[in-house]
Order: sequence, then structure tokens, then C-alpha cells
Amino acid sequence: MAARMKLKLKLKTVFVLYFMVSLMGLVYALMQLGQRCDCTEHDMPKDRTISRLRGELHRFQEQIRKSDATKQPQKQPAKPTIFVITPTYARLVQKAELTRLSQTFLHVPQLHWIVVEDSPHKTPLVSDLLVKSGLAYTHLHMPTAKDRKLQEGDPSWLKPRGVEQRNEGLRWLREDRRAQPGGDNQQGVVYFADDDNTYSLQIFDEMRSTQRVSVWPVGLVGGMKYERPVVEEGKVVRFHTGWRPSRPFPMDMAGFAVSLKLVLANPEACFDGDAPMGFLESSFLQGLVTMDELEPKADNCSKVLVWHTRTEKPKMKREEALQAQGLGSDRAVEV
Ligand code: UGA
Ligand code: MN
Repeated sequence: MAARMKLKLKLKTVFVLYFMVSLMGLVYALMQLGQRCDCTEHDMPKDRTISRLRGELHRFQEQIRKSDATKQPQKQPAKPTIFVITPTYARLVQKAELTRLSQTFLHVPQLHWIVVEDSPHKTPLVSDLLVKSGLAYTHLHMPTAKDRKLQEGDPSWLKPRGVEQRNEGLRWLREDRRAQPGGDNQQGVVYFADDDNTYSLQIFDEMRSTQRVSVWPVGLVGGMKYERPVVEEGKVVRFHTGWRPSRPFPMDMAGFAVSLKLVLANPEACFDGDAPMGFLESSFLQGLVTMDELEPKADNCSKVLVWHTRTEKPKMKREEALQAQGLGSDRAVEV
């Protein structure tokens, strides 16, 4: 009996001990749950990435701050304005020519377009086109005297074209510049751009630095692939042309630009409508500059950046046949 009691007590003690140990184990486990585990080894790569990114962000912020600081105080000097004088006259392709030209000029910064119609009045077609063009412009008109105007069927070389119109453009420019206040009213470049030629944008970059008269090649002109001033050691020494190289300036109108200062300093300089064939450009340039003073552009006159293209006159045979039957195209539609 006593031995049984002893065994019971022992079992009880073992059980209590077992219970206590389990309880302590449970309490310890519960305490560990609330604690942060020491995961340094886990987080090492993550932490390193974060601190590297922080470093890079800081470096970028520094760079942005520095570049902002250098940008702010610098003020770009204004580019000289290019004044482009274009004579134009009414014919079937006029709107197409002026549309193409105006959309080229839209790509040129600081350009003022002086459009001079060969007409006794400004026409609605040109007025509307200019209003909608998005360009800075001046709209003028000056009719060519009847006896000086090419007649239907005349060969195109018989009489010079665009003469009175270019002179009217020059007159307006001189008057307008005199009326402008401020010291930079003489800053600028003058270029004569016929409405049918093809102009690369680069030619405007080239001419913008003109000091007196700058020159460059013209493609598809004078019965040649190109005509150009020939440059030796940075100077124009003669001209590559197929016809009368002895002319003072055997160049096409599209092949030179003049500084506004020079135009204003020579108020009489203009185009002579009575000049012999091929001497129109020379009649304007010879009072302004000598060959030695010409400033060659377009990589020493080795690049063609403007072309003397000519637009074919559209044939209207079908139109006329339909018109005879009262079925011609609607006159209200502007072409
Ligand atoms: C060539 C030159 O490229 C011209 O710069 C030069 O004026 C002409 O010869 C000339 O010797 O007089 P070309 O292609 O034969 O040019 O001439 P056009 O393109 O027919 O005319 C030159 C400019 O004058 C054009 O802008 C044209 O619209 C205008 N023009 C033409 C008029 O204003 N009225 C006209 O009756 C004819
Ligand atoms: Mn032409």
C-alpha cells in the first residue's frame, strides 16, 4: 500500500515537472513571437541596394542643381532676322508655289517674308494665304509696266522678271527700318527668293552670318548642273558658269544674300530692269561689293543647298473642252 502511494507521488511529481517545463517552453515561445528577429544576414543585400540607390539619387540631384545654376544667367544673343523678298504673279500654279515656299519658311526661325505681287492691287488669294501662313510677313504690290512685262507666248528670257517687285521690297525695307526705334534696326540679312525655287533649310543657317555679301552655289541653272563661285584659300577668285563668265557677278538671284546694314548704307542700290540679259544680279551687286569681299558659304561653295527649279505650266486642254460645254470646274473653288 505504502509502495503504491510512493509510486503515485513520483508520477505526480514527474507530471508536474513535465507540465512546468512545457509551460515555460510555451511562455518562452510566446515571448519570442513579439520580438524582432535578428535578420541582419537576410536583409544585407536589400539594405545595400537601398543605400546605393540613395547615393545615386543624391548625385543626380547635385548634377541637376549644378546644371540649373549654369543655365540661368546666360542670355542667348538674338539671331539677326532674315528678310526674304519674293516677287510673285498670278497664274495657275501660284498658290501651289506659295504654299510650298511658306511651309519651308515656317521651319526657319527669325524670318520676315516680304511678298510683292506683280499686280495693280493685292489679290485675295495671296492675302488669305499670308493670313493663314503663320509667318511674319509684309504684303506689297507693284505692277510691272506693260511694255516691260512678258506677253503670252514670249520666250521667258526676253525680259527680266520680278524687277519692280524686288525694288519695291527694298524701298519698304529701307523705310520700315528707318522708322524702327532701337540700335538693332540695322541687324539683318536680305535674300531674294523667287517663288518657284527649292530651298534647303541649311541655306538660311548659312546666310544668317552675312557681314556684307555672302555667296554659294545654285543647282540646275544656266544650262548647267550647278553654277558656283570658285574659292581658293577662302576667297572667291572666279565663277564656274557656262555663259559669259566676264559678267561682274555671273550668279543667279538665289545664290547670294546681302547684309541689311549694307542695303541701308547704299540707299540707291536696286535692280536695273534695262540691264542686258544676265546682268540683273550684277546691276544690284556691283555698287555694293567687290569679288574679293564676297563671303563664301556652303562649305567654301562646295555644296548645293538651293535649286533653280521651274514648274511646268499645267495643260488645260480638258478643262477648256469641258468649259465649252458648260461643264468646266467650279470657279468658286480656289486652286
Ligand atoms: C531667272 C532668275 O532666277 C530670276 O531671279 C531672274 O529674275 C530671272 O531669271 C530674270 O532674268 O529676270 P526664271 O526662273 O527665269 O529666273 O524667272 P521666274 O521664276 O519666271 O521669275 C522670277 C520671279 O519673278 C518669280 O518669283 C516670279 O514669280 C516673278 N515674276 C515673274 C513676276 O513677278 N512677274 C512676272 O511677270 C514673271
Ligand atoms: Mn524661276
